Amino acid sequence: MIDRRFSVAPMMECTDRFYRTFARLLSRRALLYTEMITTGAALYGDRARILGFDAFERPVALQLGGSDPAAMAESARLAESLGYDEVNVNCGCPSDRVQAGRFGACLMGEPETVAACVAAMRRAVSIPVTVKTRIGIDDRDSYEHLADFVRRVADAGCTVFAIHARKAWLQGLSPKENREIPPLSYETVHRLKADFPALTIVLNGGMKTLGEALAQLGPGKLDGARPLDGVMIGRAAYETPYLLAEVDRVFYGETAAPPARSEAVHAYLPFAARMLAAGVPLGPIAKPLIPLFHGQPGGRLWRRHLAERVHRKGAGVDVLDTGLAIVAEAQAADARLRERAAA
Ligand SMILES: Cc1cc2nc3c(=O)[nH]c(=O)nc-3n(C[C@H](O)[C@H](O)[C@H](O)COP(=O)(O)O)c2cc1C
Repeated sequence: MIDRRFSVAPMMECTDRFYRTFARLLSRRALLYTEMITTGAALYGDRARILGFDAFERPVALQLGGSDPAAMAESARLAESLGYDEVNVNCGCPSDRVQAGRFGACLMGEPETVAACVAAMRRAVSIPVTVKTRIGIDDRDSYEHLADFVRRVADAGCTVFAIHARKAWLQGLSPKENREIPPLSYETVHRLKADFPALTIVLNGGMKTLGEALAQLGPGKLDGARPLDGVMIGRAAYETPYLLAEVDRVFYGETAAPPARSEAVHAYLPFAARMLAAGVPLGPIAKPLIPLFHGQPGGRLWRRHLAERVHRKGAGVDVLDTGLAIVAEAQAADARLRERAAA
């Protein structure tokens, strides 16, 4: 049984195995999602590169992009055999490329296709089959449309919905704009929970801090409604990754102190070295660490040091080591300044 109180949203070119490994060093409990992987890539691509992951990352959900029930079922089977804990259907991405493949957010207009995919996937695997969706698309943005979509997909066997609480415009807005311009409506997601209390409903969209997220999990926001089952954070978990360090305490009541930022980098080094030895360049390995010291003394120096060096030919883990030394020096200087100011 996966505990979904806190999850990190699937994000293309962000939630790869490097990010997930680093995230797992900060939170042992958060549920992590992969980037969206199309069924074509899952079934016919370079398997080790596209689907490879480390057991250390678990629990991990594989997000699939596709709309052919047989291919979705086959991909789900593969995911289960590789050790993924969940398989998730992307019904929220509005990019042109995804629409051309007839999946992502445009599937909100085809509940019967999603239901057929879910049913086929459920027959193929015993891990949870879940759906990530918006609250509407284009002019199909009434609550009734959303509830009808959820009902039909739930009837096919999906019990977990992660809902990005804004609609998507399929034409005229870029994916980035579609994550910013349509207004958020958390109320719609709370209403869904009130109407479908037996389903697991996870809220996504716009939450920047753990406090904001936790507030959404409090008592049901509508009369008599049960609280939401979980929250899913995307951008903030990538842009300010150290927020993950408080997740186990805030959402799961754990008491162990999280690692300090530099401890987490140290703990990441053996994995980084292993990946380098396997031929992966330092760039993607180090990328999730770049914003780590955001807002901290030495944070800018760290960012610049890494940005300038990780893409150099032959760059190795010593770049991270020297970066840590620079941060330590900046922190010591900052502490001295504070002491002097306090004296
Ligand atoms: C760079 C980027 C890539 C994304 N890729 C995916 C994706 O592959 N699949 C998906 O369902 N959503 C994707 N999303 C949307 C996020 O999962 C999430 O729904 C959205 O960012 C809103 O949550 P947030 O406000 O916490 O970031 C992506 C978002 C970003 C910023």
